[in-house]
Amino acid sequence: MNNNLFIALEGIDGSGKSTQARLLTEKLQQAGHKVHSTFEPTNGMVGATLRNILRGNIKADERVIAGLFLADRLDHLLNEETGLIKKMQDGYTIITDRYYFSSYAYNGTHMDINWVIEANSICAQILRPDVNIFIDLAPETSMQRISANRAGTELYETLDNLRNVRNKYLESFEKLKHEERILTVDGNNTPEAIADNIWSQLSGHIKAAS
Ligand code: ADP
Ligand code: TYD
Repeated sequence: MNNNLFIALEGIDGSGKSTQARLLTEKLQQAGHKVHSTFEPTNGMVGATLRNILRGNIKADERVIAGLFLADRLDHLLNEETGLIKKMQDGYTIITDRYYFSSYAYNGTHMDINWVIEANSICAQILRPDVNIFIDLAPETSMQRISANRAGTELYETLDNLRNVRNKYLESFEKLKHEERILTVDGNNTPEAIADNIWSQLSGHIKAAS
C-alpha cells in the first residue's frame, strides 16, 4: 500500500513547528499510520556544518549557505539507509520540520529567491510534499518565545530578519500556489487548538491514506 503521506511543517523560528510535529505524529499514529518524524537542517554531515554556521562558529557567504541547505536536503532525500525516499518506499508517513520553503523564505531573503527556487526544483521533482503546513505567527511573538526559552539566538533569529522571512514565505506561497498545496494555520492559539485545526484540515488526506 503506497498511500502514505509526506508532510512539511513550515514557519519562522519559534512558530511552534516542533511542538506541532510531535502532536501531529501522535494523532497520525493513533489513526494507524507508521510515522517517521524528521527535520532540516539534518543531523548528517552537511547539517552539522550548517549548525556551526547558524551558531556563528563558522562564517560563510549566504550563497554558500543556500548551497549547503540544498546539499543537506538532497542527502535527507537520497541517503541510502536513512533517506526519505527509502522511508516512503517502506510505507512511512513522513513529517518533516522544515523543507524547501524554508530555503525560499530564509535564503531567498539574502539572495535571489528565484535562484533558490530553481536550484531546489530538483528536490520538488524527487519528493514534493502532499501538503506544506505553514504555522503563521507574528515575528514579535516568536522572538518573545525564543528569548523566553533559550540561552542564545542563532544567525537568522532577529526581529528584522524574521519579518523579512515571513514576507518571503508569503511571496513564495503566492509564486508556487499552482504547484504546491499550502495549508496556513494561525500559530497564536494553544498548541492543542492548532493541532486540532491542522488535523481537521488534513482529514481528507488522512482518510485517503488509511
Ligand atoms: P519551532 O520548532 O518552530 O522553533 P517550538 O515548537 O520549539 O517552535 O516552539 C518554540 C517555543 O514556544 C517553545 O518553548 C514551545 O514550548 C513554545 N510554544 C510552542 N507552541 C506554542 C503555542 N501554541 N503557544 C505558546 N507557546 C508555544
Ligand atoms: P531550526 O533548527 O528548525 O530552527 P527553529 O527550531 O528555531 O525553527 O532551523 C535552523 C535555522 O535554519 C532556522 O533559522 C531556519 C534556517 N534554515 C534556512 O535558512 N534554510 C533552510 O533551507 C532550512 C531548512 C533552515
